Formats: sequence, structure tokens, C-alpha cells
Amino acid sequence: MPDLRTNTGGIQSPNPFWLASAPPANSGLQVQRAFEAGWGGAVWKTLGVTIQNVSSRFGAHTIRGVKGAGFTNIELITDRTLEINLREIAETKRLFPKNPIIVSLMVETEEDWREIIKKSIDAGADGLELNFGCPHGMCERGMGSAVGQEPTLNERITSWAVRYSTVPVLVKLTPNVSDIIPHGLAAKRGGAHGVSLINTIKSIIAVDIDRFVLEPRVALLSTNGGYCGAAVKPIALHMVASLAREKRFGLPISGIGGICNWRDAVEFMLLGASTVQVCTEVMLRGYGVVEDMIDGLEEYMRTHNFSTIDQLVGKAIPSFSEWGNLDLNYETVAKINADTCIGCQLCVQACHDGAHQCIHPEEGTRVPRIDESECVGCNLCEIVCPVPSCIEMVQVNNSHAPASWNDFVTDGKKLRPKKGVH
Ligand SMILES: Cc1cc2nc3c(=O)[nH]c(=O)nc-3n(C[C@H](O)[C@H](O)[C@H](O)COP(=O)(O)O)c2cc1C
Ligand code: SF4
Ligand code: SF4
Repeated sequence: MPDLRTNTGGIQSPNPFWLASAPPANSGLQVQRAFEAGWGGAVWKTLGVTIQNVSSRFGAHTIRGVKGAGFTNIELITDRTLEINLREIAETKRLFPKNPIIVSLMVETEEDWREIIKKSIDAGADGLELNFGCPHGMCERGMGSAVGQEPTLNERITSWAVRYSTVPVLVKLTPNVSDIIPHGLAAKRGGAHGVSLINTIKSIIAVDIDRFVLEPRVALLSTNGGYCGAAVKPIALHMVASLAREKRFGLPISGIGGICNWRDAVEFMLLGASTVQVCTEVMLRGYGVVEDMIDGLEEYMRTHNFSTIDQLVGKAIPSFSEWGNLDLNYETVAKINADTCIGCQLCVQACHDGAHQCIHPEEGTRVPRIDESECVGCNLCEIVCPVPSCIEMVQVNNSHAPASWNDFVTDGKKLRPKKGVH
């Protein structure tokens, strides 16, 4: 039986699945139900000064009929009082001593940080997460992403938190930056025990085209929101991987952003996350999604002979390189499995209009023909084909030694002409 226990910056968890700081971790009864459902840990909805929220406050991006494939919110931090939250954290900790509660915090002055950290730890926090990420509402007040975008502020506030905390401190980073590395390094210089990323992406989810107002609408106005859900996973993976492979960094990572199932979670772990956090998928489908996540992860670990989470964390990082190192002589071509092809011709259309005009309809058969001498191996037909594994990309043995752009630039290695380029 694989061992799912994890340690992220000193925060021990029975499994790598945590609720992200957001509505599903807003109250004691919710977090207790989540722990009963199987979640390993929870990052409590961010505590700070009491705020008021607007209605409405959520919006969904529908991608080809999938409502909520992208999600947005213009919600702020918790709108419940600090006292109630702290009481419920203490109660939940008493009932579930083995499940870590990480308390997310966002306040302004050093004194505010000192006080709220002490109160959170007294209530039983196993760790703290500094919310330097929220890109709406709180940043206008000088907090959230306003801190996360400014490395000197990030470092300073992190160092206050580390000074006043007796439990591990994670810094939650904002994706609203051009390069995540200086921000991860700032958290490290401040003494953080780990980072979590990503928070939401500054965005406009949609426009109500009949009322001429952005969504989500608050009377006749709206504002930019924070984008999350399945659609943001690629951005989150890139940021997690960028930090994980940065030699100067080396801190544990809790990965967040668009995680909907065990596969997504495994991808984050292979790129360096030792725990993963989930918000939107729980909002849309409930705490029960964790059951499949746990079962799927266990099965995956068994299949690949991983007995501990540590064995898979970062395993795909060595494959993440610069474009200039890729082998220009590596070649693939598309091959159609005639037995499973249903003759829909979607690959023909895709290759003709969006690729290299080398799949052709054939008289007398539903199966199109690929002109391999022209195929550049771009993958597009494989992507549009509705039948799983019907089109496969197959390596061509062209007997050319590997040669990259960097080889060309540094050693003057000759580049051979590519086929399909006219
Ligand atoms: C409605 C809503 C409220 C959120 N509130 C917070 C918050 O209070 N503190 C915080 O750090 N992140 C907050 N987030 C961001 C999430 O914790 C998470 O970083 C983000 O949604 C990406 O994960 P996901 O794609 O699984 O939703 C919120 C997200 C949503 C959708
Ligand atoms: S891989 Fe690209 S170029 Fe080759 S057949 Fe498919 S779509 Fe055309
Ligand atoms: S898209 Fe797939 S199923 Fe459709 S014709 Fe092409 S190979 Fe056959």
C-alpha cells in the first residue's frame, strides 16, 4: 500500500490533498466535513480585518459547453469575525488533531501581523500561509498581490511572519507577474519554509452583451476578478515547475490551480509540489471529489512502483529545458489506425486548414491517407481526432545525430533542412 503522507516545509499531512484558502474552507463545520470526506489538510479562508463582500461575486467561463471550465471571483478575504474563525479553528483542531490546518493571513502593519499570528497559533494552526496573491479589492488597499508583486515587501513581511511564528510559514504567490522566480526567491530570503502557488489571475471573465456590463455584475458596475479553475492549470504548472527547477530556490512547494482530479495532482507533484490545494473543483462538485483523487493517486503509485510521495515529487523536472536544447533532428509522423478510424475527416480539415496539407481523403475508403514525406509531426490531427489512440505520433528513424539550436549557435553544427517547409 503506497504511503500518502507528506511533509511540506515541516507541515505533516496524512495525504497531499488540501483545501485551498477559499469558500470551501470558510468555517469549522465545512472543514470538519472535508476532513471526514478524506481531505488531508485545509488552508483556512484568509483571516484579516473584517470586510464586506458584494453580490454577485462569482462568474463562470463556458468553454465549448463546459460551464465553469474557468471560474472567477471578486470576493475578498473572510467576512466572518476573527473571534468566530479562531474559535472554529480550535474546535476543528480538537476534533481532527492529525489533519493540518494552515491559517491564511493578510493584514497590514508589523504589529497586526504579530498579533494575528499569535492568535492563529494559539488557536492551533499547524502552519501559516501568507496571502500575497489576491488580485482584486485587497490589492487596492496595499495588501494581497500588491505585496506579492513587490519582492522587497514580500521579503520584509515574510521575515516579520517568520520572526513571530513558531509554526512553518508558507508564502502564497501571485501569478500576476512576468517571472515568478524573483518572487519565490524573495520569500526564501524572508525565511519562508515553503511557498504555495498560484493564487488567482487578474482577469475579466465575460461581458453581459445585452446590459453592456462586465460579469459578475454588481448593479451596473463590475471589476476585474481572479481567474481560477481547470483553465488555469497550464499557467500554474509552468510557475510551479519554474521555481522547482531553479537551483537558488529549493523550498517545498504546495501546488494550486485548476486541479480537478488525481491526474492533475500527479502532474503538479511530478513538477515539484509535495502537496496540492483545490478550490474551484470543490466549489463545483463538492468535498467528495477527494475520494477519486486518493484512489487514483494510490493506483498510479502502485503502477509506477512509488512507495512514498517523495519518490514522485519533481520526477519530471529534468525534462523541462530551454527551447534551444531541443533536438531538431528528432522526427515524428502521424499514423492512422485504419481499424478504429470512423472516417469523420476532422483530421483532414485540421491538417489542411491549420497544419501542413498532408492528410488527404481517399476514394473508396473512409480512412484518410497521410503523406508522410510532408508530415511535420505537429500533433494537430492527433488532437482533433475523436477516437482515442486512433492517430498515433510515431518516431521516424532518420539516422541523424541529435542537434539543437544551441549546438548550432555554440559549435557551428550544421542544421539540416526540415521536410515540409516549402
Ligand atoms: C471564490 C474564491 C475565493 C477565494 N478566496 C481566497 C482567499 O481568501 N485567500 C486566498 O489565499 N485565496 C483565495 N482564493 C484563491 C484559491 O485559494 C486558489 O488559489 C485559486 O482559486 C486557484 O485554485 P483553483 O483553480 O483550484 O480554484 C479564492 C478563490 C475563489 C474562487
Ligand atoms: S501531424 Fe500535423 S502535419 Fe502531420 S498529418 Fe497531422 S496535422 Fe498534418
Ligand atoms: S479524425 Fe480520426 S477518426 Fe476521423 S478520419 Fe481522421 S483518423 Fe479517422
